[in-house]
Amino acid sequence: MKYSRIIGTGGYLPEKILTNDDLAKIVETSNEWIVERTGIKRRHIRSPDETTTSMAGIAANRAIEAAGIDRSQIQMIVFATCTPDLFFPNAASTLQRLLGITATACPAFDVNIACSGFIYALSIADQYIRSGMVEHALVVGADSLTRLIDWSDRSTCILFSDGAGAVVLKADDKPGIYSTHLHTDGSYGDLLHVKGDVYNAPSCQYINMQGNAVFKVAVTKLGEVVEETLRFNNIDKEAIDWLIPHQANLRIIEATTRRLGFPMEKVILTVEDQGNTSAASVPLALDIGVRDGRIKPGNLLLFEAFSAGFAWGSALVRY
Ligand code: COA
Repeated sequence: MKYSRIIGTGGYLPEKILTNDDLAKIVETSNEWIVERTGIKRRHIRSPDETTTSMAGIAANRAIEAAGIDRSQIQMIVFATCTPDLFFPNAASTLQRLLGITATACPAFDVNIACSGFIYALSIADQYIRSGMVEHALVVGADSLTRLIDWSDRSTCILFSDGAGAVVLKADDKPGIYSTHLHTDGSYGDLLHVKGDVYNAPSCQYINMQGNAVFKVAVTKLGEVVEETLRFNNIDKEAIDWLIPHQANLRIIEATTRRLGFPMEKVILTVEDQGNTSAASVPLALDIGVRDGRIKPGNLLLFEAFSAGFAWGSALVRY
């Protein structure tokens, strides 16, 4: 039996930081309100000469370096993003070129599931490795959601930010990724969307969100998918060393852990410093936990994420 193991992680956050006080100069809000309702204190904003793919390139290079492999060994790139640089070619092909991977037997493609994208991308790459088709895969989550923000909408401009995260997966006899669980319910599509299509491009389109409704469904669905993951693997929540949630809002994370009776001390949190980096959020939190030494080899990790769609998912991973 083959499993996928994470053998390298990497992350990148743009240099420019926007604090809550900075935002209070743009819209009617305050540091106190934002911290109380979201837990976010600051977020990173990409510079005009950066792109989703250039950020992903830095994160991917760091993951490849940490994995200790030669980039020519990568046989597949799955890139989770809803903000690619271009309609086409896709972000993954641009990233392949940026990384100097010249093998054409390295399919490179995007998956667009907004904030849940990384979990979906991980699940796809995992299937290819389990089936024996691929030995090494690069899985990336990167987004530039600040490019889709209406900076006069105080209910969204406080939440979103830019960044990139990446992992290298390798085939192994030992787990690795035990299971992934993916869900979609398109009937919620109107509650969180960015309008825009090929007929309207390149006119400017913004994130439109009914935050309170999103919040409630997110807490329910994230709780359910974590319970599903534990049940599927026949383990108790006590077996989890670290919960690595999508970092949308501290209150969503707290409500989910409260529902599960899971201790907040075992949650990797980045939301305070990063805001919601969309598809980058889970791999960035993973990378931080790995690099600061909290996540150790052999630890059992549970990833979960929720996004527009609505789509949500989880992964149980032995690091
Ligand atoms: N500063 C001050 N007041 C604000 C504000 C801000 N930045 N944003 C909204 N408000 C106001 C609203 O206008 C509303 O005022 P009203 O009562 O006079 O109409 C009031 O605060 C309450 O709004 P509500 O939307 O009920 O607040 P909330 O507690 O739900 O917090 C969010 C709003 C957006 C922070 C919260 O709903 C949220 O984070 N939802 C999840 C969104 C998310 O994570 N999306 C991505 C999923 S991947």
